[in-house]
Amino acid sequence: MTKLNYKEKIPNNVDLSNDLSLQRALEHWQPKFKSWWTEMGPEGFQTSDVYLRTATSVDADGWATYGKVKMPEYRWGIFLNDKVSDRKIHFGDNIGDPVWQQVPGDYRSILRKLIVTQGDTEPASVEQQRELGKTCPSLYDLRNLFQVNVEEGRHLWAMVYLLHAYFGRDGREEAEGLLERNSGDIDNPRILGTFNEPITDWVSFFMFTYFTDRDGKYQLKSLAESSFDPLARTCQFMLTEEAHHMQVGETGITRMIQKTLEVMNALKSDSIDAIRNAGVVDLQTIQRYINFWFSSSLDLFGSEISSNSATAFANGLKGRPDEMRYKDHSEKNNSFTFEGLSLENTLVEQTIPMRNAMNEITRRSYVTDCEIGLKRWNRLIKKAGYDIIFTLPSTRFRRNIGIWAGIDSNPEGIIITKNEFDSKVNSWLPSEGDKEFIKSLMVQVTKVNKTAGWIAPPSRGINSLEIGYEYVELRQ
Ligand SMILES: [Fe+2]
Ligand SMILES: [Fe+2]
Repeated sequence: MTKLNYKEKIPNNVDLSNDLSLQRALEHWQPKFKSWWTEMGPEGFQTSDVYLRTATSVDADGWATYGKVKMPEYRWGIFLNDKVSDRKIHFGDNIGDPVWQQVPGDYRSILRKLIVTQGDTEPASVEQQRELGKTCPSLYDLRNLFQVNVEEGRHLWAMVYLLHAYFGRDGREEAEGLLERNSGDIDNPRILGTFNEPITDWVSFFMFTYFTDRDGKYQLKSLAESSFDPLARTCQFMLTEEAHHMQVGETGITRMIQKTLEVMNALKSDSIDAIRNAGVVDLQTIQRYINFWFSSSLDLFGSEISSNSATAFANGLKGRPDEMRYKDHSEKNNSFTFEGLSLENTLVEQTIPMRNAMNEITRRSYVTDCEIGLKRWNRLIKKAGYDIIFTLPSTRFRRNIGIWAGIDSNPEGIIITKNEFDSKVNSWLPSEGDKEFIKSLMVQVTKVNKTAGWIAPPSRGINSLEIGYEYVELRQ
């Protein structure tokens, strides 16, 4: 058998060629990943040359190169941020001890679960987005979709590396499972709800990259604090790539709003029918899409009161995003007070141990981060002379996980009856009619320098190239 130069085959900075059994295990997994990509990855365009960035180093400047590549030939690699010498555990019960380079036996299963849950979301989103190429609003957007997709593929590699390198046989089995579960599959779905929601239009895609990739950012930030050093370092590097995904979401939504406002000004009207007839998305419908994807993403943080999150924090496995911002990193004797739910389903002030509130604390940081985009969009609307204001719904609205699951609340967070909820749901969440309308706007535009009518062209190109650059070279 020819000896493979593994450094060439799987780009990495983990010295793979010096660990033959790990090398072999990943070698065995690689063709499975490739066939998953072909079957479940982007539909079509697999032979097109796409202008993609590829991670090539972990240096802050110049960590990636750009160039045309066919997606199946993308260099999915394993990149961890550099080791910080003498790094110490900085939260939980073991503060001051050296961080772990191996998995402590006691924490093995909880750590494996954290890695598998994170790993499962990465290929899930690629599956959710696989049809979107057929309705891309421009070549620029098509390229961004594929950039997000290949990087989610790389994030899967990042988690699979940890499973293979540190969890032996169980880890290898979990790595197989990551390719076997599929988004929306009735018998074998992805682990978390949002990652089984179909993303069949670009409004949903931009909402997903804005709201759900941002959940990813907060999960990665929490894991980047981990005392299990390889996990911390791999998540730190993933965050570098993740920023672009959220930017795709934010600029996509911005461009959609810009186009709507342009049309409203031209029509001198805010009539929803007139706006829709002109082929753009009315702001009310955009608000309903915000409500849907934001509320769905809130569930990803888990229950407000969580003993699992307390354990993960106490053990030093998962911290708070930007842990160093907080004063107390043990939080053993502290409490957290919030507006919870009484036995009679009314709002009541509740006090719980701080460590049990870690999910809620992380969720709150996330909500604050989500608000930044809304403020920007509201400024655009105001500047155009309209008094519509986008808002994030209450964190009690439409929850399926945690203390608010099954509680009917309006977007302001007031608890209401199920009848009232059902009678108003179509003004709060995308209705079948809204989805039909959005679908009618989704036409594929692949001419250089052209953009679909429902969204403004991008304001700048990628990596200093012009907007009209041929970001994807289509092949028959
Ligand atoms: Fe990711
Ligand atoms: Fe992402």
